[in-house]
Amino acid sequence: MMSTYTKPLVLVGIMGSGKTSAGRALAQRLELDFIDSDEEITRLTGLSAHDIFAEQGEAAFRRYEREIMAQHLSGKPLVLASGGGGFIQASIRNDIKSKAISIWLNSNIHTLLERISDPASRPLLKGGAPAERLQELIDIRYPVYAEADITIVTDGQRLQDTARDIQREIDRFLKH
Ligand code: S3P
Repeated sequence: MMSTYTKPLVLVGIMGSGKTSAGRALAQRLELDFIDSDEEITRLTGLSAHDIFAEQGEAAFRRYEREIMAQHLSGKPLVLASGGGGFIQASIRNDIKSKAISIWLNSNIHTLLERISDPASRPLLKGGAPAERLQELIDIRYPVYAEADITIVTDGQRLQDTARDIQREIDRFLKH
């Protein structure tokens, strides 16, 4: 069967917003392949994001991220969960804007803190109280995530509801 979706569907948003879990549920719903940027970086390097930041630095992680995103944005339609910083890099953001449909999973700080069970494993939450670091990132990044084609608020939603809402909004977006 030909898929209705001719472009990659890319989930963007901060850590803990549910990109990976909602992405998997969406891919299952739409019968599309699912790829997670962080998982692909780990597959490529044999290292977790945490260890790449610690051993090679953030710049190296961002290079792997550009490589993985470019590879999957140029391929067949799929559901692609970006890392929290993916859409923040201008070159990745421009690539997503020209080749994909972007969906921002917008969650408030309370939802995020509930979902982030292991702040120590999150390189960007180091060097301060997790809630404060997260709020700083929210202030900087939310105006950028807001450039996505579609925004879905996930607070208080079950995974399957989020996946259903995303599908509905993509269909609406494609009709316009
Ligand atoms: C990052 C988010 C992480 C991971 C890396 C950097 C960020 O991904 O890519 O630790 O810059 O926000 P998740 O959003 O999947 O946790």
